[in-house]
Amino acid sequence: MAVLLPGGAGYIGSHTAIELLEAGKDIVIIDDYSNSKPEVLEEIKKITGKTFKSYEMDYRDREKLEKVFEENDIEAVINFAGFKAVGESVAKPLAYYDNNIGGAVIMLETMKKYGVKKFIFSSSATVYGDPEVIPITEECKTGGTTNPYGTTKLFIEQILKDLYTSDNSWDICILRYFNPVGAHESGRIGEEPQGIPNNLMPYIVRVAAGQLEQLSVFGNDYNTPDGTGVRDYIHVVDLAKGHVLALEKLEKEQQGLYIYNLGTGTGYSVLDMVKTFKKATGQKVPYKIAPRRPGDIAACYADPKKAKEELGWEATKTLEDMCRDSWNYIKNRKGE
Ligand code: WQD
Repeated sequence: MAVLLPGGAGYIGSHTAIELLEAGKDIVIIDDYSNSKPEVLEEIKKITGKTFKSYEMDYRDREKLEKVFEENDIEAVINFAGFKAVGESVAKPLAYYDNNIGGAVIMLETMKKYGVKKFIFSSSATVYGDPEVIPITEECKTGGTTNPYGTTKLFIEQILKDLYTSDNSWDICILRYFNPVGAHESGRIGEEPQGIPNNLMPYIVRVAAGQLEQLSVFGNDYNTPDGTGVRDYIHVVDLAKGHVLALEKLEKEQQGLYIYNLGTGTGYSVLDMVKTFKKATGQKVPYKIAPRRPGDIAACYADPKKAKEELGWEATKTLEDMCRDSWNYIKNRKGE
């Protein structure tokens, strides 16, 4: 029995692949390498000392996907094949709806055809929109997404709820990620956004590496302790471990549809991040205060209690670990 990972060569997929292999699971990766590199698969093999099958393909290719289900004994699917750049989603909404929603529907239909009914979905704290209360629990209202990327997450959650209502022999887990950062401690895999990064940590590491001049801190007049935006940054390896525990829950429990926040429960500001980065890596991050970024909210962090109680999952890595491992990865790449 194997776990199918569409998008398994990507940032979160590759870290989850490692944790699954280390937990003794078999995996099959499919990826079209549109936002990742095939070499990542070799790195996963080197890190774990284990091997696995992979297919280079678009996960919306129904014929090829059916072949994957025919050639392998698939037990569950963890779907990492979504596009994830907020700005790009505003410019190319149809590409986002097609890839993220169309792809999820094709995947679910194919799973149904082959009698595979365990599905773990990478959702996002973005489904809470501008949160009513913080820390955010899973019961908080969802909706009010401000870009097509976020809306694809919201719609797919609804599709999964409707699917489960229609047939409760499905086993579905929706994981709402907060702000994933960091890299594997080996420094061999990590996040590599193409072009100028939009997200904070990838931007900071490029400034520290001298590839970008300075960080623009988007707003210092928010209603937060130091005026800059507060987020729940979570180490990608902690996040990856959450998927292994979610899978184990689906394997053990009666069928159901489960939703969990994956965050640390602690919010840090942009300036906290700049200071911690310096402390953890010795690298200075020059910055200037810039206007607020449209669409940003002041503060967003999780109440992660439900994942602790029901999955036995808890984030263990600190902001310093996140900074050190992000830097370590970029430093290794620079030396190549
Ligand atoms: C964090 C904080 C910025 C860059 C986005 C998506 C979300 C999720 C993760 C992705 C904010 C500030 C940032 C910079 C800055 N999904 N900042 N200067 O906006 O919380 O979430 O990414 O796959 O759906 O919306 O993350 O890292 O962009 O920003 O000051 O150059 O850093 O204003 O306060 P965000 P982020």
